[in-house]
Amino acid sequence: YHRPIAIIPWGYCTHIVNCSSLGHQPLTFRCKTYNNCKIVLFLQCLSLTLRTNNSSIHESMKILLLGSGGREHALAWKIAQSKQVNKLFIAPGNAGTAEIGENVNIGTCEFDRLKDFALHNQVDMVVVGPEDPLVNGIYDEFKNDIRTSHIPVIGPSKKGAALEGSKDFAKGFMMRHGIPTAKYRTFNGTNIAEGLAFLDTLRPPYVLKADGLCAGKGVLIVPTLQEAKQELQNMLGGRFGNASTTVVIEEFLSGIECSVFVLTDGKHYKILPEAKDYKRIGEHDTGLNTGGMGSITPVPFATPEWMKKVEERIIRPTVEGLAQENIDYKGFIFFGLINVEGEPMVIEYNCRMGDPETESVMLRLKSDIVDLLEGVATGHLDRCKVEIDPRSVVCVMLVSGGYPENYVKGYPISGIDKVEGSIVFHSGTALKEGQLVTNGGRVIAVSSYGNTKEEAQQKSFNGALKIQFKDKYFRNDIGKDL
Ligand code: AMP
Ligand code: GLY
Repeated sequence: YHRPIAIIPWGYCTHIVNCSSLGHQPLTFRCKTYNNCKIVLFLQCLSLTLRTNNSSIHESMKILLLGSGGREHALAWKIAQSKQVNKLFIAPGNAGTAEIGENVNIGTCEFDRLKDFALHNQVDMVVVGPEDPLVNGIYDEFKNDIRTSHIPVIGPSKKGAALEGSKDFAKGFMMRHGIPTAKYRTFNGTNIAEGLAFLDTLRPPYVLKADGLCAGKGVLIVPTLQEAKQELQNMLGGRFGNASTTVVIEEFLSGIECSVFVLTDGKHYKILPEAKDYKRIGEHDTGLNTGGMGSITPVPFATPEWMKKVEERIIRPTVEGLAQENIDYKGFIFFGLINVEGEPMVIEYNCRMGDPETESVMLRLKSDIVDLLEGVATGHLDRCKVEIDPRSVVCVMLVSGGYPENYVKGYPISGIDKVEGSIVFHSGTALKEGQLVTNGGRVIAVSSYGNTKEEAQQKSFNGALKIQFKDKYFRNDIGKDL
């Protein structure tokens, strides 16, 4: 054992089939990845040694998942099924995630506390649910800190998260890589007059987007030129604070939307099931925009031919474009697409999974998600297989009366135990003196499989009726337009 035959990146630990000299250095093991060759590992990574001391190598990972919504409950549900995981922490989590793992009372943007927690609890991987910590640079924080640089964070670097964090950056990126999207121009306080003149050249309705993150509220679609001009001035004047000091104005696209999800390690990618979400509060897509009132997968118009166009014109150029621009991106890419007369175009990128799409997409992912996440972390996603359940899944979101405007929190929730044949994910719930109560606008997501879309719908609507809380509301038409 005078010199190492190879230094094994962390991800290969899952491929170890035989191990000896436990507790001693160097460590010898056989590794499938290297044709079962004997590998001698000098102490490069203390956590590997600790892990291999565990008699069950395949059940030894500790994962920290960030977020507190239905998306995170669905991710937690899927991660907890992995044979590799023996401990799942969720920060901060909700009452639903508390039933699957251990909630940790740390906010998703409290980076110092998250790093300390990850170190003290020997966390092996951090999975980021929402966009905020990504846009604020959690990936870089872990990577650039010598104490935490060995802990993979699933999510892009701050530069990569700008695909969601800056509409102007995203549009510029699409232009540079020839990715189909609406024509646009960007304005700020220095060229308002040009912005007003640009609006004169467009046809109604007018689409104005705050450049920065606005919790899904930064896009205005206005019917008249006069309103558009007024809104441009309002936005640049601070209507959305700093997020709208720069505004993207773009051509309106007409068509039906579809969310496509990809996992990438920066070189390779895997396509997850696509989904459609229902954004408006009212049935038949009326009323105010919400975070999402339900979702369905698969999407009938996302045929193999259409998905081939999506892959060739949008997904591949995006992943290759990120690599060409040296943008570190190891995580989910959410392509918000619109089908314009059969041609897919990008409405937006997000640097995370969708909510409530995750609450249906996770049900169709048959593969072990932690295997995929390890592939992402190690750069060997090409070696992973994605197996998809062919069944339909429909997710129906139960929301508080008044949402997305004012609503009351703290109402007791009952009836979850009466739901049969569906999976219930918590979005905005809390436990108050042992009682489950509402704690947000979107409260509970009910997701169901069906051999047909109609069967999945029926099960989710039945489940939605059984769960009770004061002023509960849900849309009875999820998936009915498809
Ligand atoms: P975004 O945050 O960019 O996804 O925009 C929010 C929503 O506004 C999208 O889901 C679309 O429904 C709508 N939208 C955004 N951009 C356009 C566009 N160029 N044409 C039509 N609708 C749009
Ligand atoms: N469902 C849309 C989103 O997560 O942004």
